[in-house]
Amino acid sequence: MIFVFYCKKYCLKWLSMYHAFFFLSLLLCYRIFDCFNWESHKSGRWYMELKEKATELSSLGFSVIWLPPPTESVSPEGYGNIDELKDVVNKFHDVGMKILGDVVLNHRCAHYQNQNGVWNIFGGRLNWDDRAVVADDPHFQGQGNKSSGDNFHAAPNIDHSQDFVRKDIKEWLCWLRNEIGYDGWRLDFVRGFWGGYVKDYLEATEPYFAVGEYWDSLSYTYGEMDHNQDAHRQRIIDWINAASGTAGAFDVTTKGILHSALDRCEYWRLSDEKGKPPGVVGWWPSRAVTFIENHDTGSTQGHWRFPGGREMQGYAYILTHPGTPSEIEALLSVRKRNKIHCRSRVEIVKAERDVYAAIIDEKVAMKLGPGHYEPPSGSQNWSFVTEGRDYKVWEAA
Ligand SMILES: *[C@@H]1O[C@H](CO)[C@@H](O)[C@H](O)[C@H]1NC(C)=O
Ligand SMILES: *[C@@H]1O[C@H](CO)[C@@H](O)[C@H](O)[C@H]1NC(C)=O
Repeated sequence: MIFVFYCKKYCLKWLSMYHAFFFLSLLLCYRIFDCFNWESHKSGRWYMELKEKATELSSLGFSVIWLPPPTESVSPEGYGNIDELKDVVNKFHDVGMKILGDVVLNHRCAHYQNQNGVWNIFGGRLNWDDRAVVADDPHFQGQGNKSSGDNFHAAPNIDHSQDFVRKDIKEWLCWLRNEIGYDGWRLDFVRGFWGGYVKDYLEATEPYFAVGEYWDSLSYTYGEMDHNQDAHRQRIIDWINAASGTAGAFDVTTKGILHSALDRCEYWRLSDEKGKPPGVVGWWPSRAVTFIENHDTGSTQGHWRFPGGREMQGYAYILTHPGTPSEIEALLSVRKRNKIHCRSRVEIVKAERDVYAAIIDEKVAMKLGPGHYEPPSGSQNWSFVTEGRDYKVWEAA
């Protein structure tokens, strides 16, 4: 039995390769492939389809695959059975890739109602009662302590300050690690509870790597996005520190800034006041997991869609700095050839209204935006690699 951590449709997160993008990230020098979207359950044999793609994904240069949550659900999600899951995990290991399990620890849909008809009693492997639910969400009548983070209102939020809850979660994660073969974790909605609990879970399960989704709003003044997003990226960095500094976090700051910069032709946003990249990647690049879209922001959910038609500019940014396959392939191979990694050096040479340009490790030059930029000839000869609408990439000859 796999432990149940979700139900209703909004607790579920799922991604697919058939839709426009390959979701791509960079974690601790890994290249992560986010392999599901909201519709991935529809084929009914998603694990087997992924298994058929394993060799291709590995040869494209991906080193990590992010699998959908392995938990039961009330909505019609589902990718295969436990044996198929083990099978796909083995296949990815055979082609040299690591596997990230998507775990939702903040909230969990209940199996049973309490005496007042409120759904807050759990069944399955972790058959908790209402003491496992935080006390400060009036909808779920929890008997635990107050939440140590923000509440996600669609389902009972779990109280991680309870010893029995932490003990059970650690056992479950260890079981996923040993029995299924996951190498690490993608942690959902980590805003919802204190990062110190995540530290406890990481120490107990010793993942090869982990990445947290700390997603909140960027700073705006009268509806205009602020240039300075230091407070936003600092909150993500504070979470990384609380979780012991070993986990990465999705660079939500960079995604948000790219939205405004690309959509409104405001490329000056791509440099902070000190001339560094303005997202988490500018402050702690080795922990920044950059991405432009995932199963929640895009796909059929579309909670925070990347500006339409600008996706390749987004990839040109994240793949040259610290997809469908053919276009993204050129960018991936330039990244591989020039050994760009999570700690690469970025020199921002232009961040003006209509053009952003940077040179990475003195080996790759790139520009975004309609404005003009050509890398300087002189000490280097630059050869053209790839271009598309409002982006262009060169490498040192
Ligand atoms: C939470 O509640 C339990 C008892 O239910 C208590 O032992 C524990 O100290 C509390 N933890 C925090 C962090 O308040
Ligand atoms: C640049 O290319 C020219 C012509 O091919 C060559 O003479 C020159 O040495 C090259 N410069 C560098 C720095 O490689």
